[in-house]
Order: sequence, then C-alpha cells, then structure tokens
Amino acid sequence: MSLPLVVGNWKMNTLVWQARELARGIRQHIELHHFDRSVRIVLCPPFVNLTAVAEELAGSSIDVGAQNCWTEPYGAFTGEISAAMLRAIGCRYVLIGHSERRTLFHENDAMIAEKLLRAWEAELVPILCIGETLQQRQLNQTWNVVENQLRGILSCQERSKKWVCAYEPVWAIGTGIAAEAEQIKEVHEFIRLLLNGRGCSHVPILYGGSITPENASVIFSVQNVSGGLVGGASLRVESFVAIIEAAAHAYRTRS
Ligand code: PGA
Repeated sequence: MSLPLVVGNWKMNTLVWQARELARGIRQHIELHHFDRSVRIVLCPPFVNLTAVAEELAGSSIDVGAQNCWTEPYGAFTGEISAAMLRAIGCRYVLIGHSERRTLFHENDAMIAEKLLRAWEAELVPILCIGETLQQRQLNQTWNVVENQLRGILSCQERSKKWVCAYEPVWAIGTGIAAEAEQIKEVHEFIRLLLNGRGCSHVPILYGGSITPENASVIFSVQNVSGGLVGGASLRVESFVAIIEAAAHAYRTRS
C-alpha cells in the first residue's frame, strides 16, 4: 500500500516570514516524530513564498507545491506564472482546478485540461480538484458533476502519468462542515471505479473540505481515501501535524 498523502493549501495566507516559520515548525515536528516514514507531505504556499518555503524544506522529505499555474508555457500573460517556472524553483506538485479558482476566477474544464498538460510537460505532479456544489448535491447531480470534471483527464493520453485526484465537495470547503464518512465513501468509491476503468488505478484520491484534527481519523479510515487536502487547519503547526499523525495512524492500522 502506498503512503498516504497530506497536502496543505495555505491559499492567500502568510507573509514570507510567517511562511518560513510555519514550514520550519512543520518540518521540526515531522522529523522529531518520524512521520515522514508513514506519510508524504506537500506544502502549497502562495507563489511569492515558494522559494522561501523550498529553502526551509531543503533536505527534508516534505515537498513544495503551487496553488495554480497558467495554461501556456511562456509569453505575454501579464501577472501569470507557468508550470516550468514553478518546477525551476523547486516545486514538485501543483493544484489544478481548485473550486475557488473555478468559481472566483471562472476557470472552466478546457482551461483546466490545458493546465494539466503544462504541469506534466514541466514534470510537476498535478493535483486535480473536483467536487459538487451544495445545490448540485441537493439535485442529486454529484455523480454527473464529478464524472464530467474527470472526463478531460480520463480521455487524455497523459492520464497514465503521475497525478492526484482531490475530491472536495464545494459545500465543505472552509465551512467547518466536512462531508460525512458515508458521503465520502460513496463518492470515493465512484471515482475509484471511474479511474480504475481508465487505467488510473495508480492515482491516489484525496478528500478535502474542513478536515480538522477532530475529524481526520474518521475521514482517513474511509475506504479509498488516500489522504487529505487541508486548507484552514494547515495554517497552524499543531493542527496540521495532528492531521498528519491521524493519516500516519490510519496507514499503520490498514497495512
Ligand atoms: P478547508 O479548505 O480545509 O479550509 O475546508 C480545503 C481546500 O480548499 O483545499
């Protein structure tokens, strides 16, 4: 069984000194308790803090990821950052299609498909975020939504490359209301079947949306959950480390 993956998405938080402090604190805890042996960890700070965080994590087992990239490799796109630029400063991962990008910045599936290609070209591991809104869930559209959001990647040649799928129900993100274990179980099972049917059994499926130290153990013990994408609780060393510990524990119990 492969190691669980826990990703911290810091969103638009941390000044550079805070980012350094947070990364250093997480590293110290992880190394002290040897969690690096049972969990893979990725920190995704804002673009301007990536280099500082990469410096803090140099020589550790913790990877750095970006929260986004642009659809083109270079050119006249004022204010944008390419996947190749991210790779060049030490990123290994990049979040693609986070629900905040889809809603607030109007990213559509075509753009997201382009970004995935750029990520692979730059040898980054894309973490594709998918998930339904509350209204879509209430209308029983979860299955269609998730399948449609995966359609682009599942029909693409590169799907056999390394990537990660993050199921994040939009209604659970930043609301303090995580999905119930049963809800997570059925959607993850559905995604697992879709991925396995298209030659993507190697792709881990993370859950994201209001993961806390209190609910992490239950979430990580759900079948087909390979780890978590953590927002708010990744901004404090104690809470993020407690979530990592829960992932390590779930892994030890399962294997
Ligand atoms: P949250 O965010 O943990 O604060 O709900 C998760 C995410 O947006 O990835």
